[in-house]
Amino acid sequence: MASPPFYPVNDFGPAMKGLVIGGVGILHVFLAQFAIGGGMLLLYFERLAQRGTLPDGRKFVDGFFKVLVLVSFVMGALTGVAIWFTTIQVGARTIGLMIDEFHWLWATEWVWFAVEVVAGYAFYRCGDALSPRARLRLLTMYAFASWMSLFWINGILSWQLTPGQWTAGASVWVGFFNPSFWPSLLFRTCVAATLGALAACIVINTMTFDADARGRRAALIRRAARLALPIAAMPILAMWYFAVLPADSRGWLLGGSMPMTMFVGLAAGASVLIGGYVVVGLVLKRLYINGATATLLLALAFGATAAGEFVREGARKPYTVRGTLYSTSITPAEVIDLRARGATTDDPYPLREPAQFVTAQLQRGAKVERALCDACHTMRGANALVELTRTWTDDQLRLNLAKLQRTKGFMPPFAGNAEDVEALVQLLRWEIADRPATWPESHDPATLAQITTWLDQAGVR
Ligand code: HEC
Repeated sequence: MASPPFYPVNDFGPAMKGLVIGGVGILHVFLAQFAIGGGMLLLYFERLAQRGTLPDGRKFVDGFFKVLVLVSFVMGALTGVAIWFTTIQVGARTIGLMIDEFHWLWATEWVWFAVEVVAGYAFYRCGDALSPRARLRLLTMYAFASWMSLFWINGILSWQLTPGQWTAGASVWVGFFNPSFWPSLLFRTCVAATLGALAACIVINTMTFDADARGRRAALIRRAARLALPIAAMPILAMWYFAVLPADSRGWLLGGSMPMTMFVGLAAGASVLIGGYVVVGLVLKRLYINGATATLLLALAFGATAAGEFVREGARKPYTVRGTLYSTSITPAEVIDLRARGATTDDPYPLREPAQFVTAQLQRGAKVERALCDACHTMRGANALVELTRTWTDDQLRLNLAKLQRTKGFMPPFAGNAEDVEALVQLLRWEIADRPATWPESHDPATLAQITTWLDQAGVR
């Protein structure tokens, strides 16, 4: 059994690696979903305008909104590249596994994205001069291609959380059409449409008219609100999504982990508020919505998106690919090997400023921390190890680290030997003591034997 490959990783100080990638990812998802919903809205308004049912539709389509869509897919592309750039610094092995498995499907997604960009840009540059038929074709192409890029990437992302029947070597389609594929795709489609409609309500409020400005804006808003109507289906789609989640993940979202439960509550609450306003206020009561209110609703939608993505990422713990790869970039099978060989024996990368750790054991502890904990913890910043363990006794610390996967279900089994556990224990004690200049080494055979017993009791699963 081979030891895992080691990749150079970056350290983001007090910001946990997961938070860095989460932040970039959330921005990207928001922009990309708006680019899809914006495209749907442009197509919808163009059709209404050409049929004569929405006289100001063309003015809207040729106005500022298409600039916004352009900005969003350009920013979407840039933040997409930023995701690659951060993932290779944080979880190179996960992204490598995803590319190996979904190579051609990912290439397919790229082709659709390229079509999206070309169609969107062509419409932005030449839309004014084109015939009505050509305009419709171009917008249809843009809207469809942007949705197709969601279709393909959705299969890959949902596979990470719910691979279902997929195992290494199984058909790629089993992984792609995994249990959460459809609820996730439909859910995101509803979100995209809602984002497009809310942004449109802001833009409509900036449009100027010679006469009856309010009435003409109201007519546009009523049509835009219809695009947001699928938000009414979101509770059902959310329940479907919950139903296909693995039982342990579902348990965390429903009370097992209070931060996650609160985020679920925030996402659901914000969505209900937006949905209520759209369905009751805009569609049934035909209310007018001004720019400020629409901006507030869009900000609320951003919050809901951020909370939702946080929960989706969190629910995957301790894996980045459920059942296959832990968040530490170690496979379940490799844990057995690392228990015997030590967590950092083959790690070729030096520590940053190794002299700050005053003994060889503390340096080993820092390497163990980097290899096994750093993906989800920092020493003193986000999810700070120093704070989580401050009140524990030494033996309590040894026991809980040795039995890591039983201490909390979010964590993988400890992938190292008894010396690694003890080095990490000493590192934490030294950090809690505010890094004194001298620190005794601890290699007591009885203590190590006790840790080994605990590691064996915890097992490797
Ligand atoms: C896959 C992510 C992940 C990895 C890897 C991980 N942890 Fe955790 N750990 C968590 C989460 C999430 C919590 C819960 C935090 C909370 O409840 O506030 C946690 C909690 C803890 C706690 C507090 C437990 C309690 O009962 O209060 C300690 C101590 C801890 N981790 C230590 C470690 C150490 C040491 C490592 C490395 C050997 C490690 N963790 C690796 C995600 C992880």
